[in-house]
Amino acid sequence: MAGSPGKRQTSSTRFTTRCKRGALTGNETSNSGAEDPRFHGRRRGRKLRPGQERLLETYLPEVRLNMPPDGSVVDPTVLFRAGMREIWLEIGFGAGEHLAWQAARHPDVGILGAEPFLNGVARLLAEMADGRPENILIHPDDVRPLLPRFADAGLARVFILFPDPWPKLRHKRRRLINTPLLDTLARLMRDGAELRVATDDQDYLVWILRHLQAHPDFAWSARRADDWRHRPEDWPDTRYEDKNRSGGPGSTFLRYTRNPRTG
Ligand SMILES: C[S@@+](CC[C@H](N)C(=O)[O-])C[C@H]1O[C@@H](n2cnc3c(N)ncnc32)[C@H](O)[C@@H]1O
Repeated sequence: MAGSPGKRQTSSTRFTTRCKRGALTGNETSNSGAEDPRFHGRRRGRKLRPGQERLLETYLPEVRLNMPPDGSVVDPTVLFRAGMREIWLEIGFGAGEHLAWQAARHPDVGILGAEPFLNGVARLLAEMADGRPENILIHPDDVRPLLPRFADAGLARVFILFPDPWPKLRHKRRRLINTPLLDTLARLMRDGAELRVATDDQDYLVWILRHLQAHPDFAWSARRADDWRHRPEDWPDTRYEDKNRSGGPGSTFLRYTRNPRTG
């Protein structure tokens, strides 16, 4: 890990370090403020291997979710071949291991993945290259400008797993989860759709709960502590989570349901 003399960084520890950058500095109180529309994460990390560059050049165009033309709104179901039972979205898929796991187990579900970090995109492409699944589309960029281009109620599940915690007080405006994003997701998600969020950052957890509990369109499905303390079986761990198991309070797994629309 960075700052651990003598320890060689593997690509996965580097990825984890990047996600963990700016680790929690204290129990600063949450401060919603206005959202910051700029993307502050990294788009590239360590130099890509030639094979990864090749996948980005040749395979990514085949599975890339392109921005719909200006002014148009698309129903996400039409992006995939016919017969997809549902459409799911994973925001910030990192190296894509959770997304690939879900796609392999749900071949009749179309999964959209957004991730601006190209090294992570290249990893997912490498995972997909053999089987060439038809139920994955990738948006290799910030998800936020894309979301307004989707039609209402087209998504049955949304994943936001270990979003960057941005722990410093002055950086909290960078946090992905905020009221405008939840408003947009509420519009895009169909009634009864599920929003899954995980975090291992206690300050961000408080922030996330505060925003979600206050949101009229989402209801927390947890009935007892085990529902959020333990990972459900159909929720594989990610590289980030695996590398950050530190003996701290651990990860929290939140499942919210999109309330039925009224009127
Ligand atoms: C801490 S990492 C977690 C990655 C992955 N979900 C996991 O659990 O391994 C957070 C990821 O969210 C991505 N991200 C941050 N802001 C984003 C945005 N606006 N749109 C899409 N992805 C974003 C980052 O690039 C980063 O890869």
